[in-house]
Amino acid sequence: MRFEHRVVLVTGAARGIGRGCAEYFLREGASVLLTDIDADAGRETADALASVAVTPDALRFVHCDVSDRASVQQAVDLAVSSWGRLDVCVANAAVVHGADFLDIEEEDFDRVLDINLKGVFLTGQAAARAMVRCGNGGSIVNMSSINADVALPNQVPYCVAKGGIQQLTKVMALSLAEHGIRANAVGPGSIGTEMLESVISSDPAARKKVLSRTPAGRLGRVEEIAAVTAFLASDEASYVTGQTLYADGGRLALNYTVPVPDDD
Ligand SMILES: NC(=O)c1ccc[n+]([C@@H]2O[C@H](COP(=O)([O-])OP(=O)(O)OC[C@H]3O[C@@H](n4cnc5c(N)ncnc54)[C@H](O)[C@@H]3O)[C@@H](O)[C@H]2O)c1
Repeated sequence: MRFEHRVVLVTGAARGIGRGCAEYFLREGASVLLTDIDADAGRETADALASVAVTPDALRFVHCDVSDRASVQQAVDLAVSSWGRLDVCVANAAVVHGADFLDIEEEDFDRVLDINLKGVFLTGQAAARAMVRCGNGGSIVNMSSINADVALPNQVPYCVAKGGIQQLTKVMALSLAEHGIRANAVGPGSIGTEMLESVISSDPAARKKVLSRTPAGRLGRVEEIAAVTAFLASDEASYVTGQTLYADGGRLALNYTVPVPDDD
């Protein structure tokens, strides 16, 4: 088990990719602090994952809003006080807000940036400070997206935030290298989660559009993103830092479309 005796904190862990990452690290022997702004869903997820943890003590949930510095600090402090160290931090929480560039309101732009970009900064800084204090090095994985690179006209702050995460990850890697802390990002393509459903359910042709741009011919699975996240967090990636690793079924490599069968 690659993460035995390691302590992992995951933000936005109540569902989707964050939940998948928490489960993956638990299966690999880690002690995991699940955090999310949705406390009810987070507690339910923690209950559901209890059987996967190596011991009942290896899993905790705490409410955390990543856009609130004090809330993030509390979560990091809880991880360290519960298990004595912090080895891995997965900054995963994010939201979407669909509105065209010409229409989006300033407060919606600010809200998405506060969660999706400032939240990654706050999480990474608090986690890195704890890792420096613990003195064991560590690994931070920021959840980015193919939208760090390819844009959508109606996901303005989302795309801006993901582009920002790419540079933030590099800055973190440079700053933290001397402390033995690595910082990388994962860039998922289209993964079958509630976030994706919320984006494509309003447009009946959207699923087909997504698949026509995905050489793998299917949506990605949460476990496939968790596996890449765990790789970057693991000692197997000990010489990898400052990188964004895209797990996108070939999406970014494609400069055309692929045929998609009609629905039955
Ligand atoms: N699903 C995809 O296709 C896809 C593609 C590329 C990147 N991603 C990225 O993967 C990550 C997870 O996406 P997902 O599809 O699992 O989303 P999701 O909407 O299913 O889950 C996101 C979780 O974050 C939590 N959250 C929202 N605001 C928060 C806040 N302020 N503080 C703490 N938690 C908060 C939500 O309660 C939820 O549990 C995001 O960073 C997203 O941008 C997803």
